[in-house]
Amino acid sequence: MTQRDTHRTIALTDQRNTCLPLPITLQNASLPLGSNGQLLDTRGRALRDLRISVTDRCNFRCNYCMPKEIFDKDHVYLKHADLLSFEEITRLASIFVAQGVQKIRLTGGEPLLRKNIERLIEQLANLRTPEGKALDLTLTTNGSLLARKARDLKSAGLQRVTVSLDGLNDAVFRQMNDVDFPVADVLHGIDAAREAGLGPIKINMVVKRGTNEAEILPMAQRFKGSGMVLRFIEYMDVGATNSWRMHEVMPSCEVVQLIQSVLPLVQLEASQPGETAERWGYADALGRHDSAAGEIGVISSVTQAFCSSCNRARLSTEGQLYLCLFAQQGYDLRSLVRKPSSDAELANTIGNIWQGRTDRYSELRSALPQDAGAPTRRIEMSYIGG
Ligand code: GTP
Ligand code: 5AD
Ligand code: SF4
Ligand code: SF4
Repeated sequence: MTQRDTHRTIALTDQRNTCLPLPITLQNASLPLGSNGQLLDTRGRALRDLRISVTDRCNFRCNYCMPKEIFDKDHVYLKHADLLSFEEITRLASIFVAQGVQKIRLTGGEPLLRKNIERLIEQLANLRTPEGKALDLTLTTNGSLLARKARDLKSAGLQRVTVSLDGLNDAVFRQMNDVDFPVADVLHGIDAAREAGLGPIKINMVVKRGTNEAEILPMAQRFKGSGMVLRFIEYMDVGATNSWRMHEVMPSCEVVQLIQSVLPLVQLEASQPGETAERWGYADALGRHDSAAGEIGVISSVTQAFCSSCNRARLSTEGQLYLCLFAQQGYDLRSLVRKPSSDAELANTIGNIWQGRTDRYSELRSALPQDAGAPTRRIEMSYIGG
């Protein structure tokens, strides 16, 4: 029996149009802030990272994200009029930046499918933090359109890209994207991104036990010394359609052990607060980090939750604000932007929402029975982005 035959798919319950009531915002009230002027949530976490989904469409059907059986020809995607326009996104982003956001990641679906995405990047690249610094402006892509678009993205002001790549073996890669897309085209896209100067490039590999663990070592060997950072991601119980089961998760400690057995590693310090990945450097003959050989990262959302330092907010394609990847509902900022509201009102609302934030799903999931499966009413990752 093949992997596909055993796959059980859960029907999609549409969570997109249900939203939480917006907090009542006093026009001129100033929000209480942390000692160094930061906006903090109920667990003392600052708002630093905004992920903006620009489309709910994708040309891949990765089984762990958009299973073909659910995201088929009858699936109803958002209508163009429902999407935030580039001007609306930029306006909201500028308010988030004024509230402390320093990094913006464009996601999807597949963000390069959004028409004229370069125009949005140009607008976002002009934003400055209150200290006058440019943002860390990046994008997560499946790489399928990178060969064509890398240069224009760079000219528009994008700094770097993260490319999803779940294996080098063509048959495994085609099986995982489930649209028979050849791995060679993504590898060309990565080369084009490098030539365009969209670095440091990160490569994200979701590891699914029983599907692509044989790709771990070839991937490590391929990207060692390339200047790119390969990160291994534990398969997560995100969304409600991927039939996630714990036995398909390969814990990051096993990934590290496997690589260690062939390519010695040393653990590295976190490079910034709230970093999702644990960093491991390739070791030289003396057991020290060989910086020319580079590093890998492991993202252990399942076995080692990092909620305590989670500084991320997510803006969906139609302008709902989600405070957690596993949230069931978001806050409808689009209705405020289209009302219209003043910047001060928007800033106060966003500030109030963040200050009321309690989310820590991955920490709580560790307390659930091992094979509890995923709740069926949860937003999809293709809708709020990675
Ligand atoms: P960099 O600044 O490039 O290091 O970005 P990042 O560390 O935020 O990583 P990225 O956006 O590439 O995220 C990598 C993967 O980690 C995502 O695709 C998710 O699978 C997972 N991930 C990212 N953010 C979260 C989060 O807030 N919670 C959980 N549980 N997983 C996350
Ligand atoms: N588990 C872990 N990561 C996921 N992604 C999507 N679905 C999942 C999942 N179930 C992430 C991958 C991919 C990015 C677009 O979203 O990292 O690279
Ligand atoms: Fe598309 Fe990325 Fe989801 Fe795969 S993981 S279906 S490439 S959005
Ligand atoms: Fe942040 Fe939610 Fe992920 Fe925890 S589970 S790290 S709170 S997004």
